[in-house]
This record gives sequence, C-alpha cells and structure tokens, in this order.
Amino acid sequence: MIVLGIESTAHTFGVALLDDQLKVLADVRKQYVPKSGGILPREVAPFFSQVAGAAVREALGAAGVRMGEVEAIAVALGPGMGPQLRVGASVARALAAYYGKPLVPVNHAVAHIEVARWLTGLKDPIVLYVAGGNTAVISYAEGRYRVFGETLDLPLGNALDTFAREVGIAPPYVREGKHAVDICAEGGEFVEGLPYVVKGQDSSFSGLLTAALKALRGGAALRDICFTFREIAYSSVVEVLERGLALTGKREVVLTGGVAASALLNEKLSLMASLHGAQFRPIPRSYAGDNGVMIALTGMAAFKWGQRVEPRRATIRQRWRVDQVPVPWYYGFP
Ligand code: FE2
Repeated sequence: MIVLGIESTAHTFGVALLDDQLKVLADVRKQYVPKSGGILPREVAPFFSQVAGAAVREALGAAGVRMGEVEAIAVALGPGMGPQLRVGASVARALAAYYGKPLVPVNHAVAHIEVARWLTGLKDPIVLYVAGGNTAVISYAEGRYRVFGETLDLPLGNALDTFAREVGIAPPYVREGKHAVDICAEGGEFVEGLPYVVKGQDSSFSGLLTAALKALRGGAALRDICFTFREIAYSSVVEVLERGLALTGKREVVLTGGVAASALLNEKLSLMASLHGAQFRPIPRSYAGDNGVMIALTGMAAFKWGQRVEPRRATIRQRWRVDQVPVPWYYGFP
C-alpha cells in the first residue's frame, strides 16, 4: 500500500510517498524563502500554485510509482495559513476526485507528533511542539492528544524570528542546529530585567519580545540580549514540559516542530529528562520542519483506522486544534 501525502500549511509545499513498510519512496519539498521579512501568505500561495504540479510529478518520478498504484491521498487541512492550505487542499481534492482515490484529512500538529514518535521509537511520550506557528506541550490520553500547556500569545519560533528581524540579524533560519539568535548569543551573558512568564501551564513571549527590544534601545549589548532572550524563551517551555512530565507520569520526552532543529533546546530537554529518569531522543534535524512524509505517515495510520473525507467536504481548518482529532491508532502505529 502506498500513500501520497501533501503538506502546505506554511512555507513548505511537500509531497511524499510512503509504503506500508514505512519506507519513504519520495520526499519532495519546495520551500518558499522570503527575500526579506516574514512569511506573507499572499506571496507564498502563488509560489505553491506554481510548484505544486511539478512537485507531485517529481515525487511520483523519484519513487517510480504511477498514480494508479497510490492507494490513498493524505493532506494537511490545518492548522495553518489559509491561502497556502487552500493550494494543498485543492491539489489533493483534484487528485482524489480524478483518480478515484480515498482522501484522508490530516492535522498538521498530529503529524509532527507522529513523525517524532516514528523516528525516535518512543511510543508514549510527552511532546514539546515548537514551531513558527505553534508552541504547546501535548500528551496522549484517552483517545486523543491533549494540550497540557501552550503559548498565550506568540509561538516561540515566531518570537525568535521576529526578534531576529527587528534587530537586523535575519534571516532567522536554523542552520546546523543554530538559529540566528543562537549565533548572536555567543559570548553573551544573562542580564536581569527581561520577563520570564509561565502562567499556570502556559507560556507567553510577547512581553519578552517587547522588553528585549526596549532594552536594546536603552543601550544593552546585543549579544547579552540575544543570550537572555533565548535562555528565557527556551527555559519557560522546558519548565512547562517538566511540569507535564511530573503530572502525567510519562517516561518519554520528544521535541518536534521547526524549532526542534535547535541543538540547544535538544540539550536542555535531554538534561531535564535525565533529571527525571525519563528518556529523551532527538529527531533528525531534517524532519523537524514541515514535510510531506509526516502527512503521508499520519495519513496512512488514519486511513487504516478508517478516517477519510469526501473531496467536496475536504475544507481547510486554519485553527484545527490537536485535541479535536481522534487518534485510534495511538498504540498500534507506527
Ligand atoms: Fe509545522
């Protein structure tokens, strides 16, 4: 059985083919890189429309597979940015309708978790999901993923990227496990005065961003502010994860989403997990960010457990929460 997965929630148009031995037959990624500034949906969506057809053909070609051999089409219908989601959904609906294939709706956040469980081999972890558009501590209980804590305002990745752009150290992408803010922080020292906010189980980063920029205007050294900003941001999510670990009694920890490429965040989590006798395993950096493989993987699980959607009902869900998705495959897959 072969499943074709389509990802288009943010900056990456991904198409992947996966067989039921979980062998990746193709993993095509077309990433939109803005010339300056952040991701503007009105610029990314036309880029996706341009590359979509070629990406599907490239994936099939790389795998040596014809559409007739594909058993189901999985698509990320949310959460994400509307214009980009619409491109992926349109392509998936068209393929499903034209070739008469079942269409499987996939939640992007669930897919980040499933790919992390698969790649680490950790079956029942508490999850730190951090990306440009999401920050949450999540764990499975009674049939679905539950949100233990999340950001009250900006996602952590967005806060880091915005800070990097505001202070002129963009592009902010993670390279070799380092974000622009990590590089800027080298040689920096912790300075007092920036807010560390954990409210209950939730984090907040907008006050931190404002205070960091204000401190710089007040003459603070950039490397000290980079260092302090990063330490506060990472430590607050690790604290929430630690509370979640203590409360749920889980024995395993994973980190997933774009910011999972950060070597330092991996280090902090690994240390925290070891203090609690829990197991932590990093995911390969290349699967931290968005990709079609995680959609195909989750789509395959969902398909086997009977989840599918009529193409005409396959509408996007920009704010589709992880805790709205039944996960009947949890103990049986991957
Ligand atoms: Fe993502």
